[in-house]
Amino acid sequence: MRKLLVEGGTRLRGQVRVSGAKNSAVALLPAAILASSKVTIEGLPNISDVGTLSDLLEEIGGTVHRDGQTIEIDPSEMISMPLPNGRVKKLRASYYFMGAMLGRFNKAVIGLPGGCHLGPRPIDQHIKGFEALGAEVSNEQGAIYLRAKELRGARIYLDVVSVGATINIMLAAVRAKGKTTIENAAKEPEIIDVATLLTSMGAKIKGAGTDVIRIEGVNDLNGCLHTIIPDRIEAGTYTIMAAAQGEEMIIDNVIPQHLESLLAKLREMGVTIEENDEQLYIRPGEKMKSVDIKTLVYPGFPTDLQQPFTTLLTKAEGTGVVTDTIYQARFKHVDELRRMNASIKVEGGAAIVAGPSKLEGAKVKASDLRAGAALVIAGLMAGGVTEITGVDHIERGYENITNKLVELGANIWYEEMSEEEVEQFQNS
Ligand code: EPU
Repeated sequence: MRKLLVEGGTRLRGQVRVSGAKNSAVALLPAAILASSKVTIEGLPNISDVGTLSDLLEEIGGTVHRDGQTIEIDPSEMISMPLPNGRVKKLRASYYFMGAMLGRFNKAVIGLPGGCHLGPRPIDQHIKGFEALGAEVSNEQGAIYLRAKELRGARIYLDVVSVGATINIMLAAVRAKGKTTIENAAKEPEIIDVATLLTSMGAKIKGAGTDVIRIEGVNDLNGCLHTIIPDRIEAGTYTIMAAAQGEEMIIDNVIPQHLESLLAKLREMGVTIEENDEQLYIRPGEKMKSVDIKTLVYPGFPTDLQQPFTTLLTKAEGTGVVTDTIYQARFKHVDELRRMNASIKVEGGAAIVAGPSKLEGAKVKASDLRAGAALVIAGLMAGGVTEITGVDHIERGYENITNKLVELGANIWYEEMSEEEVEQFQNS
């Protein structure tokens, strides 16, 4: 088991290239199940979640070839194999196998998904959608059993705006008989990306990216070539790093419109940001002033950038209040930041950050993916060395984070943990 060490204080300079979007990739791979011939996806990030999903596609009989950022999936020999245990439990996005297998085989058995612990993460809206499409759904010993004689289009109103439910229902509905309408749908760019892939496969989808998506089911979907969008959360994380510890940084391969809520907040703090079609150029101000943020569904401030942003606020002058309306308990990074001398308290479901504080290196634990990113940023800002355990979480979502940061001038490296450290980590 490895830990990540960061020696802080160095100013970051230069250009970093953003990888393909994790939260698109994890839906695009299962979507390939729906095709009758080869699906090629380009621009794939090299992260462990993608590896796990590729293995799952092979487990159900797919042929998968991966060459760098390109993956070819031949789904023609896939079978409707139950996946109640094992790899499906490793990540949350394995729930997309439910919609995709239901769409292709009219049945699926999928173990309840794992993923980051951010408080309760129900999937009732996914199930409501599948049932509306005509599936019988039951939960038996921690696995969801889905079966339909045939899928029929339906009008589905989501009680909660959910990325996962919107995509999962689209996956099943593209093969249902007749018309499906998803109302109160999520509008995240990843939903448009999945709809683009499905449309290239021959699906009929209108309105992806708005809150009403209309789908007309088709009998067959063919293979296609698709290029994934850039990861707006990875881009946002490096943008926050640039504001926190950059001298001058260019973030390359970005769609700036996907990050408007973050860029507006950074500008409010005094950070200079120039943008062109694919790049952001960032120069932090001498002093930053604190701001409040509240996470909301897209295009609001993304919950996935809340934790990295909280670290940045420790450097700003004044008090900033961070409210997460998507995951009210996504504050496990706060105790770790406090170990590093940050002045933060969680009160009434919000983190209150009093800045500025000079962070100091400490031994900290990444409890989830974005908490890990928050701690890497804290390590870059802090005096001395920060030791981060729980690096598996970080590798689930950030391609080559150490290499990218070393290129920018950071002192960051992996070390093997001693047996004693592994034991302490496992018991903590
Ligand atoms: N919700 C329900 N019922 C449902 C589904 C969701 O109550 O059936 C609630 C959730 O508990 C949450 C809210 O609705 O409070 C939004 O959840 P959503 O379904 O949108 O989240 P998700 O699809 O499970 C994706 C990303 C998350 C990201 C959220 C919100 C993937 C694989 N995951 O999760 O990404 O935080 O959308 O934008 O796409 C991450 O990348 O670190 C991450 C956790």
